[in-house]
Amino acid sequence: LNDELLMIPGPTILPPQVREALSRPSMYHRGEEFAAILDECTRGLQKVFGTTQPVVMLSSSGTGGVEAAVVNTLSPGDRVLAIAGGKFGERIGEIAAAYGASVDFMEVPHGQAANPDAVGERLAQADYRALLFVLNETSTGVKQDGHALAKVARAQGALTIMDCVSGLAGMPIGFDEAGYTAAGAGSQKALMLPPGLAFAVLSEEGQQAAQTAKMPKFYFDLPKAIKSLAKGQTPYTPAVNLVVALQASLRLIEAEGVEAFQARHRRMAKACRAAAEAAGLQLLAQEACASDVVTAIRSPEGLDSGLLVKALRSKHNILISGGQDALKGKIFRIGHLGAATFDNLRETWEKTALELGELGYGCEVDEVLAAIERECGSE
Ligand SMILES: Cc1ncc(COP(=O)(O)O)c(C=O)c1O
Repeated sequence: LNDELLMIPGPTILPPQVREALSRPSMYHRGEEFAAILDECTRGLQKVFGTTQPVVMLSSSGTGGVEAAVVNTLSPGDRVLAIAGGKFGERIGEIAAAYGASVDFMEVPHGQAANPDAVGERLAQADYRALLFVLNETSTGVKQDGHALAKVARAQGALTIMDCVSGLAGMPIGFDEAGYTAAGAGSQKALMLPPGLAFAVLSEEGQQAAQTAKMPKFYFDLPKAIKSLAKGQTPYTPAVNLVVALQASLRLIEAEGVEAFQARHRRMAKACRAAAEAAGLQLLAQEACASDVVTAIRSPEGLDSGLLVKALRSKHNILISGGQDALKGKIFRIGHLGAATFDNLRETWEKTALELGELGYGCEVDEVLAAIERECGSE
C-alpha cells in the first residue's frame, strides 16, 4: 500500500523529512518549544501566502480554512457572487449559502478562466458584498488571474474571498500584493503534508470585516486565533504532530527557495501538457490558464477515463484522478505538486501511454517520453 505513487492533486507524496517529523512523540502545546515551532511555521506560511498578516492554523481539512475565510468576513443576508466552473468554485458558494448568504453563481465553461472584465460587469449589476472564487480549480486544472479578479472586485467595493487550497505553495499567491480580503488553504497539496491542517488569513480590511461579520462560528473564530497566535499559542489543542511536520516541509521549501520551488511546478506542468499533446490527447484547460499543479486531460473519444485510472492503480501502483461530477469518465487528472519529481512524471506517463494502448487507444510511448525530455532535460 505504501508503495503507491500519488500523482493525484492531493494527498501528495510525503518526503522522508516530513515522515520523520510525523513519527516523533507528541509534544506539549503550551510550552516554549512549541511556541518556537509555531512562530517558525507562521513565518514560513506568511512567505508562501505572500503576506505580513498572521496566518492561522486550524485542525481541519482545507474546506475548514475556506469556511473560516467566509464566516469571518460575511453576515447572513449578504449578497455574494461566486465564480463557478468547477466543483470547488461551486463549493465556496455553497459554504456561503449554508451560512445564510444570498449567493449568485457566475458560470464559466469548464477549462476556462473567468474573464475579469466580465466579472467586474457582473459585480456592478448588484450590491455585492464579496466575490468568492478558487485560485486553482482542481477539478478542471484551471488557474484564475486572482490579481485581476481582486482588482475588479475592489473597484466595485466588494471583498475578495479565495479558496487557495490547491494553489498554496505550488503557485505564487501574493495575498498582500493582490489585495485579497481572506483566503483559506489546506495541508495535503504542495505543502507535502498529510491532510488535517487548514490555514486561513485575513487582510487588515478582512480583520476589520471580522469585527462585524455575523455568520456563526466558534472553532473557526479567526480574531480569537490571531490573538492566541500573538502569544505563541492556539485557542484549542492544535494538531501538534502535523505542525511539527509543517516545520519540516516549510524548511524543505525554504532550502529549495520558494521561487525555485514554484518554478519547478511550472516546468512540471509544462512537461505534463507536452506529454499529453505528444500522446495525441487534448487538454481541458486553455494554455493561458493551465494550472501549475494539476493537469486535466480529455479522455480519448469513447474511452471512460475511469478505466485508465483503474488500470494504472491495479497494474502499476500509480494513482491519478478521474473527472468529478459532469466530467466523470471524460477527463483524467495528473497532479504534479509538492515532492513529485520529474522521474515520477516520466513513470506516470510511460505507464499511461502503455495502458492507453491496452485500452485500444494507440500512442507512441517513446514520443510521449521524448516530449517530457524536451521540457525537463536531465532534471
Ligand atoms: C481547490 C480545492 N478546494 C477545496 C478542496 C477541499 O479540501 P479538503 O478536502 O481538504 O477539505 C480541495 C481538495 O481537493 C481543492 O482542491
